[in-house]
Amino acid sequence: ALPPIDTAKFVAAKKAVEYVEDGMKLGLGTGSTAAWMVKCLGELVRDGLNVVGVPTSTRTAELARTQGIKITTLDEAKWLDLTIDGADEFDGELNLIKGGGGALLQEKIVATASDQMIVISDVSKQVDRLGAFPLPVEVIPFGMKITQALIEETLVSMDVAGQKVTPRMDGQALYVTDEGNHILDLHLQRIGNVRQLALVLNQIPGVVENGLFVDICDKVIIGHSDGRVQTRD
Ligand code: A5P
Repeated sequence: ALPPIDTAKFVAAKKAVEYVEDGMKLGLGTGSTAAWMVKCLGELVRDGLNVVGVPTSTRTAELARTQGIKITTLDEAKWLDLTIDGADEFDGELNLIKGGGGALLQEKIVATASDQMIVISDVSKQVDRLGAFPLPVEVIPFGMKITQALIEETLVSMDVAGQKVTPRMDGQALYVTDEGNHILDLHLQRIGNVRQLALVLNQIPGVVENGLFVDICDKVIIGHSDGRVQTRD
């Protein structure tokens, strides 16, 4: 038997792949929940389902390959029918914080290039207000400390609570994303105006993308450790 948290992730993933139809072009998310989805999809592919996937990270690309799922690039696919991914938090409007796994940039591009995005999650990621999970912001390495200072100033001017910004580490070194950038984690506790913060952050030079997904997710499938699933849309 699986540990309860894995059961929750697995049942959400299993439900999500029911939305996959033959011939679809799919965005494949990143993280432990998305990994369950890739495995469920692999099973369907081995049973004859014909789909092509665009992975959102090198990790997911590797897993998809071992599962026998055909993969391609986003530019080759041109447009996607459906993206299934995990999230770090989701609110009642289905806005998300993503990037805990460091793949937010490719995840946001892929989800935005899809007709539909379905998020799969255990119930622990459901929140009234986003922000308890540190918000990841991908920044280019050049002048990163200046970018960090500009972000801190912006947060002060927006009166966002908490306001601690920490560079993400990988042991002793800065964490490096698939695109060769770094990540700043914004410890905000609660985000008042999600839409505004998402826009303002991306105006700061050096910021490539932030982990707020606003108006991108269409449906959240929530798995429970007793095997129940709920859908929000
Ligand atoms: C990856 O960059 C993230 O956006 C993931 O989607 C998120 O961290 C969820 O991961 P888990 O499913 O492992 O919690």
